[in-house]
Amino acid sequence: MWHLLPPSALLLLISSVTKADPSKAVVLLDPPWVRVLTDDNVTLTCQGAYPPENNNTRWFHNGTHIVGSQAPSYLISGIKVENSGKYQCQTDLSPLSDSVQLQVHADWLVLQTSKWVFQKGESIRLRCHSWKNKRLYKVTYLQNGKPKKFFHNNSEFHIPEATVNHTGSYYCRGLIGHNNKSSGIVAITFQGPSIAPLFPLWQQIAFCLMMGLLFAVDTGLYFFVRRDLRRSMVHKEEYNFKWSQAQDK
Ligand SMILES: *[C@@H]1O[C@H](CO)[C@@H](O)[C@H](O)[C@H]1NC(C)=O
Ligand SMILES: *[C@@H]1O[C@H](CO)[C@@H](O)[C@H](O)[C@H]1NC(C)=O
Ligand SMILES: *[C@@H]1O[C@H](CO)[C@@H](O)[C@H](O)[C@H]1NC(C)=O
Repeated sequence: MWHLLPPSALLLLISSVTKADPSKAVVLLDPPWVRVLTDDNVTLTCQGAYPPENNNTRWFHNGTHIVGSQAPSYLISGIKVENSGKYQCQTDLSPLSDSVQLQVHADWLVLQTSKWVFQKGESIRLRCHSWKNKRLYKVTYLQNGKPKKFFHNNSEFHIPEATVNHTGSYYCRGLIGHNNKSSGIVAITFQGPSIAPLFPLWQQIAFCLMMGLLFAVDTGLYFFVRRDLRRSMVHKEEYNFKWSQAQDK
């Protein structure tokens, strides 16, 4: 009886297949790095819909409501290791955001990225960041132990279009004063393409077949009912005619 599903059920079926809810709030990081060092300053901003009369924002750290922070921007100055974890926000009009994972390291150097997982074709920004932005020079970025990029004066390493070849373990090293320092290792991983067709081909074909069938059934019903109606009207006229004839006798 699958072909007798009403069109509204079909639409429901289809909308449940579509992607994440666009009305959800979104947490943005400024600067954009998900890996930072202690004493860095990080601003989290809640992007969402606000009613005209208020900009009340609820912030959550590892699922716990952060009491006393109701502004759309949440500044963490001089961040500590304890501030690591998942952040989420919510406004009066936008439901709870997905979480943003922030990692705070107590170290001299950190290799910063703006994401944990990348998609092929995306650009990757890597930044070798020193504690309290101490002057860092003779900086090398390494992938799987091999030097990839060298800067006499520190600079970001930018990969404009990532491919599978960019998968691997990265770190950076350089000099702070006369000391040779290395960052921890970051694994760059990839996830399937984001721009997949909305529905697989077989679903599209099934959908078209279903719509065709529904149309055929509808049209069939329409003609059937119309013919029936006409026939019953003709019968009624005949009956009336016979009846009036009988009356005349
Ligand atoms: C964080 O902000 C404070 C106050 O503005 C500033 O003194 C400090 O240098 C900043 N920290 C970093 C790592 O930039
Ligand atoms: C690196 O920075 C130092 C100090 O900021 C500057 O004097 C020097 O010219 C820079 N070197 C290069 C190659 O840009
Ligand atoms: C830092 O040490 C590594 C080996 O531990 C060495 O290969 C590299 O040249 C040193 N870096 C600098 C900038 O001196």
